[in-house]
Amino acid sequence: MDKKKIKKIVREAYGKIAQKQEGCGCGTCGPDTRQFAKSIGYSEEELKAIPDEANLALSCGNPTALASLKEGEVVLDLGSGAGFDCFLAATNVGPNGKVIGVDMTPEMIEKARDNAKKNGVENVEFRFGEIENLPVGDKSVDVVISNCVINLSAEKLRVFQEIYRVLKSGGRVAISEIALKKELPQKIQESIEAYVGCVGGAILVDEYKKIVEASGLKEVKITINGSSVCIDPNTKDPIGKAILDGLGESESLEANVVSVYVEGHK
Ligand SMILES: C[S@@+](CC[C@H](N)C(=O)[O-])C[C@H]1O[C@@H](n2cnc3c(N)ncnc32)[C@H](O)[C@@H]1O
Repeated sequence: MDKKKIKKIVREAYGKIAQKQEGCGCGTCGPDTRQFAKSIGYSEEELKAIPDEANLALSCGNPTALASLKEGEVVLDLGSGAGFDCFLAATNVGPNGKVIGVDMTPEMIEKARDNAKKNGVENVEFRFGEIENLPVGDKSVDVVISNCVINLSAEKLRVFQEIYRVLKSGGRVAISEIALKKELPQKIQESIEAYVGCVGGAILVDEYKKIVEASGLKEVKITINGSSVCIDPNTKDPIGKAILDGLGESESLEANVVSVYVEGHK
């Protein structure tokens, strides 16, 4: 599918998810978003630092914990959604640090800014933009984090080249992501629902590592956390339904779609 078309579909889908109109995207429509966050690695303590409204259950790991953030650092969150990881990062870097969230969906940016205002968080800024063309200056960031987003980009090398550009020398990357242990069946690769659900755009772990290394980042490490299939449980899409029901060719899918942590240094 054409890159522009994919982006339009992803933006529209996440716009509806932000407004809770329709769909779950890469996440769960379950009522207990706190419990979901705990299941993917957030502690009760960390969740206290995040406004509840910022948790849309769209994540697949805890990149902020992986990043071991320090006071005063500048952090950039790619695909910041309603601000979930930005608010946690903001408490870690403190008033002398700064967190920038970038998202291409206007409804997400609006929600995130609203959350910052309502909760009086001043060291966070949400910028409207694309992760393939970051609205961020060269060599201005200490740490890039991202949670379940880069799989949604049809230009993954471009995203990592942008990450490299904005990182200061010695800067680091801590990303939570969905990747594959085995190629997806063709039908699933062509399913829009599977794409929006962070499955269809996922790539093989080895391929992912090569892309990150090609961007210039060093000491690249990818750690597999566990099984992860993110499809809207209420989907009407037959492929999405098949994945969830574990039918036919999708049967082995759960074991082959995994959540991973990606680390690297400039
Ligand atoms: C699965 S959600 C994750 C949101 C957030 N990281 C979280 O964990 O709650 C994906 C987010 O990435 C954004 N996104 C997807 N592709 C993007 C792109 N190419 N540029 C900027 N944002 C993008 C979507 O608008 C959405 O807010």
